[in-house]
Amino acid sequence: MTPASRGVGAPGAALRGHVTTGDRHDPHAQARAARAQPLLLHSLALFREVFAAVFTHCDIGTVVEIGVESGQVTEMYTGLGARRVYCVDPDPSPALRAALGDNDAVRLIEQPSPAALAGLPAAELYVLDGDHNYATVRAELEWILTRAPDAVIVLHDVLWPCGRRDLYYQPTRLPAEARHPDSADGPTIWHDELTPTGFVGAGAFTTATHAGGEANGVLTAVEDAVAAARDSWSLTVIPAVFGVGVLVRDGNPGAEAIRAALSPYADSSLLAAMENNRLALYTRVLQLQYEAAQHVREADTLAERLHSSRQQLDQLTRRLHKAEQRHASDLAALEEAHQRLAAVSARQATLRGAAAVIAELAGDAARRRVRENPITRAVRRVLPGRRR
Ligand SMILES: C[S@@+](CC[C@H](N)C(=O)[O-])C[C@H]1O[C@@H](n2cnc3c(N)ncnc32)[C@H](O)[C@@H]1O
Repeated sequence: MTPASRGVGAPGAALRGHVTTGDRHDPHAQARAARAQPLLLHSLALFREVFAAVFTHCDIGTVVEIGVESGQVTEMYTGLGARRVYCVDPDPSPALRAALGDNDAVRLIEQPSPAALAGLPAAELYVLDGDHNYATVRAELEWILTRAPDAVIVLHDVLWPCGRRDLYYQPTRLPAEARHPDSADGPTIWHDELTPTGFVGAGAFTTATHAGGEANGVLTAVEDAVAAARDSWSLTVIPAVFGVGVLVRDGNPGAEAIRAALSPYADSSLLAAMENNRLALYTRVLQLQYEAAQHVREADTLAERLHSSRQQLDQLTRRLHKAEQRHASDLAALEEAHQRLAAVSARQATLRGAAAVIAELAGDAARRRVRENPITRAVRRVLPGRRR
């Protein structure tokens, strides 16, 4: 048993070759290693063994790296033996400037490719990972295949999503006829149309609204550039982390050895299946994240509406309470008025009764006065049978 197969390294980081196995005292070593990686692996820095094969079989003194981003790949080239690296990126971040700053072998070229290529000396290795669209990659390749035909060319993003569909970091850098209609929406593994739940650039890049057809995508650009080249070039495609292509001119020193060294990667159905699975899972995660964010927005809106409904309800309850108080005091006043009215009515009835008695008494007195009238008495005497 070799040390590697037994598991070596510091406790908690047991390895078999490059594989973190952990050991029975540290069963979580692999999970820790997995957690330490970004959820979306996207950098060429992961392809160290592929670049190592290129450096082993070719004498690489100068590298032109197009599309640098964080600069984490740059020091790999100097580590593998490059004496000069030209880093071409039109939008270097302060972190990139800082990362490249203390390496004398590195020059930062703050211009877009392909225009920047003409100002640089020919290199032995070109790494194309800048603007992932047909027009840019086709122009880069045309320049390199003509001016530096002995170079090895490594291209990133030759498979999904950019292989057959343009991506634009800055569409306006290209003439209108060299770009396709584009969108801020992104592709997903789960259907063919772009979607806001897909692989979106979030302001950093846009994507062609349709895939396929002519002059669309990185791999289509490679195929057309190779078909148009004077010499014969061979492309090896490694189906991992968005696809890496290695382009060498047939017959160049080292070309055959590079192809042989890379064939276990290029011919690996295991790698291809894992890449497809990774993309399917990642774009599912993107969709779930999008939906979760939308649910949060909807929940926020509902909470705001609930809050304002509660405020309205509180206001209405206060008004209702005041109205009830007013109603109760109106009712009490009404009751009091009703009692006063009843008392007045009772007095009126008493007075009416008294008035009737008075009227009765007054009527009797009048009748008596009439009966005592002399004329009446005379009439009674003359007409004794008549009564009045
Ligand atoms: C995918 S990132 C590169 C990642 C890096 N090569 C790695 O593997 O870690 C693409 C980079 O290309 C740069 N870029 C965009 N358009 C470019 C162009 N026309 N020329 C050169 N770089 C470009 C962007 O600014 C961005 O930093």
